[in-house]
Amino acid sequence: MTIYILNGPNLNLLGQRQPEIYGHETLADVEARCETEARDLGLEIRFLQSNHEGQLVDWIHEARMAAQGIIINAGAYTHTSVAILDALKAFDGPVIELHISNVHARESFRHHSYISARADGVMAGFGTQGYELALQRLHRLLAA
Ligand code: DQA
Repeated sequence: MTIYILNGPNLNLLGQRQPEIYGHETLADVEARCETEARDLGLEIRFLQSNHEGQLVDWIHEARMAAQGIIINAGAYTHTSVAILDALKAFDGPVIELHISNVHARESFRHHSYISARADGVMAGFGTQGYELALQRLHRLLAA
């Protein structure tokens, strides 16, 4: 089984931008830990990042045929993108919305998520460990 792990804008700067909020690990570090976790769970992953909304939409469309589950940290598009919500509504498998930070303890504009309306679960404030926890949850959901 294949899981798409999609990362949105500015997550390429993980480890460099606002480390007091997002930590010191890079996205490559997170990808490596996801690879290890996925191997332990017997899952395949495709770990992707783009700063462009349309690219994220295209990857979600691709996942319709290529993946059984999606983990998505859409970054700031979480709070703005009806297009990403609509794309996720066209995906049949489980979707986990993920945020490294606890968006609910931050500015009020981060409290609303378009993606939550389609997500089977929301992970926020678990740091980068959230990615491994989300993989475990998808593994459980897909085994059920
Ligand atoms: C984020 C939270 C968003 O509000 C923000 O725009 C990000 C990252 C997180 O992982 O905590 O870019 O999704």
